[in-house]
Amino acid sequence: MRVALGVSGGIAAYKAAELVRLLQDKGLDVQVVMTRHAREFITPLTFAALSGHKVITDMFGEAQGASNVESAIEHIAVAQEIAAFVIAPATANVLAKVAHGIADDFLTTLCLATKAPLIVAPAMNVNMWEHAATQQNLEVLRIRGVRVVNPDEGYLACGMTGAGRLASPQCIAQAVFETLGLRQDLAGETVLVTAGPTEELLDSVRYLSNRSSGKMGYALAEASRRRGARVLLVSGPTPTEPPAGVRLERVRTAEEMAQTVFAHLAEATVVLMAAAVADFRPAEAYPGKIKKQQGAPVVKLEPTLDILAAIARRRRENQLIVGFAAETEHLLTNATAKLHAKRLDLLVANDVSQEGAGFDVDTNIVTLLFPDGRKKALEKMSKLDVASRVLDEVVEIRKQFGRHSREGGNP
Ligand code: PMT
Repeated sequence: MRVALGVSGGIAAYKAAELVRLLQDKGLDVQVVMTRHAREFITPLTFAALSGHKVITDMFGEAQGASNVESAIEHIAVAQEIAAFVIAPATANVLAKVAHGIADDFLTTLCLATKAPLIVAPAMNVNMWEHAATQQNLEVLRIRGVRVVNPDEGYLACGMTGAGRLASPQCIAQAVFETLGLRQDLAGETVLVTAGPTEELLDSVRYLSNRSSGKMGYALAEASRRRGARVLLVSGPTPTEPPAGVRLERVRTAEEMAQTVFAHLAEATVVLMAAAVADFRPAEAYPGKIKKQQGAPVVKLEPTLDILAAIARRRRENQLIVGFAAETEHLLTNATAKLHAKRLDLLVANDVSQEGAGFDVDTNIVTLLFPDGRKKALEKMSKLDVASRVLDEVVEIRKQFGRHSREGGNP
């Protein structure tokens, strides 16, 4: 399988050399593409030696005359051949060009010419990273389905400290493998995911619901499938396109969601509860349509079953349970209480009042809470990236389970 690695001009360009090796370790054939500025930091010869291919640096190659056209055609053929295109490091300038469809060199032209999935790993000065222009460009790219591997925080080449340091080559390589379905660390697992809202009937045409789009749960299902799991997706009503290759069960009410989840629970080795299940439903659903002439109805609500708590009570040995918490205030206190009350292995807390987090957006801002008191606050990222980070923890917890089982006993 062939992939393209785009290298743009930043001090981190040298780290792309290690990325070539990591990609090759998985059997990928790497075609390196460099911008003019990248060549100020590292020579094409280094990448040619590592990749075994001539590095593409120009649209028209070095030769003159008719061969210019041949060279351009040959180069653009790369667009059809590659299974993924990863740009690492991606400068603020390259991100801006890609976000706006500017194609003024080979690297940016390839972004437009290929239908292969694009992965970008930004690296830059912290002020450039935080600049509204860069963040808006990243938002555009995420919405378009581009995978963004966020930079790390730390000491930067410019002497400043903060976010902007290129993510580790291992982390970037994992994003590529995941995109290509080559990361199979959930093979053998059956992952049950809940997603979307529930609708609780008031009468034959009206219902109580919430703004969940299902995007978070669908991202978990998609990421689990890509990593080799068998996926059962139980989804409330949503227009969001479900991922391919998963078994989808559509439900409407909290009651139906509970029944469907319980029906599949015995098969599931991992449960990820991202659905926004109604906590209350009308105690009685009026059989027809409530008429205006009847006056404003007084609706008595009754609690629904807490599916997650019920699952946690019935959990099988080695069944791993992850809950979500949608909060608008006291995020950590409320979410920690849910983690312990429901005896979960991991809780994903999102403050749904924050811009770019929670309901019906493509990104999320979450804190991962663990039973031993550890907390990991993740910055704003696409829901697919959040899903990937949650699954990284699932894989880690699974290793712990294995260790404890071998030592005799559950964690
Ligand atoms: O669907 P999106 O538009 O992408 O939005 C994503 C999301 C905001 C819905 C998602 O990130 C999220 O936070 N999901 C959980 C929403 C929720 O119901 O949170 P909660 O704090 O009320 O519930 C805590 C946990 O209990 C959740 O795992 C929930 O699935 C579960 N629950 C809640 C009520 C109930 N009756 N049964 C349950 O199982």
